[in-house]
Amino acid sequence: MQRPPFSALASVYDAIMADIDYGDWAEFILDYARDVSLQPATALDLACGTGTLTAELQARGLSVMGLDASAEMLEVARERLRGTRLVQADLRDFALDERFDLVTCVFDSLNNLTEDGDLGRALSRMAAHLNPGGLMAFDVNTRTGVRDLWEGEVMEGLAPMPGGREVHYHWSHHYDQRAQLGTVQAVCRMDDQEFIELHTERGYDVADLEPLLHSAGLASWLFCEYPDYADPLPDSPRIWVFARAVQDGG
Ligand SMILES: C[S@@+](CC[C@H](N)C(=O)[O-])C[C@H]1O[C@@H](n2cnc3c(N)ncnc32)[C@H](O)[C@@H]1O
Repeated sequence: MQRPPFSALASVYDAIMADIDYGDWAEFILDYARDVSLQPATALDLACGTGTLTAELQARGLSVMGLDASAEMLEVARERLRGTRLVQADLRDFALDERFDLVTCVFDSLNNLTEDGDLGRALSRMAAHLNPGGLMAFDVNTRTGVRDLWEGEVMEGLAPMPGGREVHYHWSHHYDQRAQLGTVQAVCRMDDQEFIELHTERGYDVADLEPLLHSAGLASWLFCEYPDYADPLPDSPRIWVFARAVQDGG
């Protein structure tokens, strides 16, 4: 049965992503913050999903709020992060009545914004929620990354679930050259239940991001590779972006 993106997947997401080291991502972000003499005390984790990065930031002493559009992903996050503020909202138009030292958005989440103007709106909202001098940190798949995702291979496996069950996942990728959009067909089966979700991504390059960061009013930014902060190459499949808000009086 076909389900909306990030709905049914929520129940098996953590099992399938078990190999992702969110702790390393948290360190990568916080090391950069320390390097630019920022000790963030508060963070907003956008597109927080099931809340794994949110939890890693919290474990490192930050007071964190999570935000995601998917009620199902947030429900899993609520189990993980009891007592943490989690908000259901859209990246393109969210408005909270507070600002943060750090705003994060990881694991290709911004690539889910596929319409013209979507990414610019999201970056403006992100910038509007930063304290003066605050830091925004996110990753994106580049156009090359979205086009060449798994290079025609499928991603398939069995992931152990709590209670001794297993989820069988079979993810295939299709790139629409004309629309320049990549679609992942995610098929998951557990016991005799099967569901399919289609996730569509648009790739963003440095040349797409730079004018949008500028329009969002950010003061400075760095594009780099994970995990060594190296300059991205022209064919880098994924880049990280660190962008600073204007300082008070700046
Ligand atoms: C690949 S998951 C990443 C989740 C989490 N950041 C992680 O690292 O595991 C993408 C997340 O983006 C969320 N998302 C996609 N489009 C969104 C939008 N327009 N507004 C808010 N969240 C969105 C989805 O619900 C999903 O939880």
